Amino acid sequence: MKRIPTGIAGLDELIEGGFPETSSILVSGGAGTGKSIFCLEYLYNGAKIHDEPGVYITMEEGPHNLWWNMQRFHWDLLPLEKANKLKIYKFEPSLDMKNDVENQVRRIVDKAKAMNAKRMVIDSITAFSFWIDDLSKIRYAIYILVEELRKIDCTTILTCETDGRKSQVSRFGVEEFLVDGVVQLLYIPPHRSMFIRKMRGTNHDKRVHPVEINDNGLQINSKEEILWEALKD
Ligand SMILES: Nc1ncnc2c1ncn2[C@@H]1O[C@H](COP(=O)(O)OP(=O)(O)OP(=O)(O)O)[C@@H](O)[C@H]1O
Ligand SMILES: [Mg+2]
Repeated sequence: MKRIPTGIAGLDELIEGGFPETSSILVSGGAGTGKSIFCLEYLYNGAKIHDEPGVYITMEEGPHNLWWNMQRFHWDLLPLEKANKLKIYKFEPSLDMKNDVENQVRRIVDKAKAMNAKRMVIDSITAFSFWIDDLSKIRYAIYILVEELRKIDCTTILTCETDGRKSQVSRFGVEEFLVDGVVQLLYIPPHRSMFIRKMRGTNHDKRVHPVEINDNGLQINSKEEILWEALKD
């Protein structure tokens, strides 16, 4: 199985070299746990190191805000944007998302097709789902989104906003079943940590690891462990 390395410090060695190619991965966590940084780093490393084009679909945070926030990091995004290797798009919801799921999914998939993207980020699937506002349709939308992106050989991260508790994996209680992998990011002061809850087809690490965020992005300490019981819920 081909692997898509994330390039995030400390992560790939915990997942047999990277995400399985064409898989879909949920990166879930509370506010400020580093979900967006995780995603941009994944796309940046893909474009810069592996020459794999990537698309970032942001649901709420404007692209300008994202560009601005990310300037702080030691990543030179602009040349990649100019070379069509990394694009950030803001998704504008339609008035009747609930009854227009196929079209909305197509709008996202078309962005990936236009760039021949290998890596895709939807940040967040929670905002997208809230606009649909009907659990069975949310489930259907995530299912077809993931499948359509798989068909065009994208390896996709969906971010998921939780209330921050370690026991809450997703917002609607269905997202984690529709994807191939789940990475949980936690920030329970003073500890930031990361836990791989599932990764289909992968003998992945099962421990909770400390995480640091600094000007180089996310640093996962793959050697050290935090006990699950030590984290408050
Ligand atoms: N250069 C930096 N050095 C250290 N910490 C940083 C740096 N930049 C950001 N952070 C930390 O990362 C957090 C933001 O990360 P990010 O935007 O990826 O979180 P998020 O999970 O996407 O949040 P949200 O749910 O609000 O979208 C900040 O709140 C801050 O704590
Ligand atoms: Mg974010």
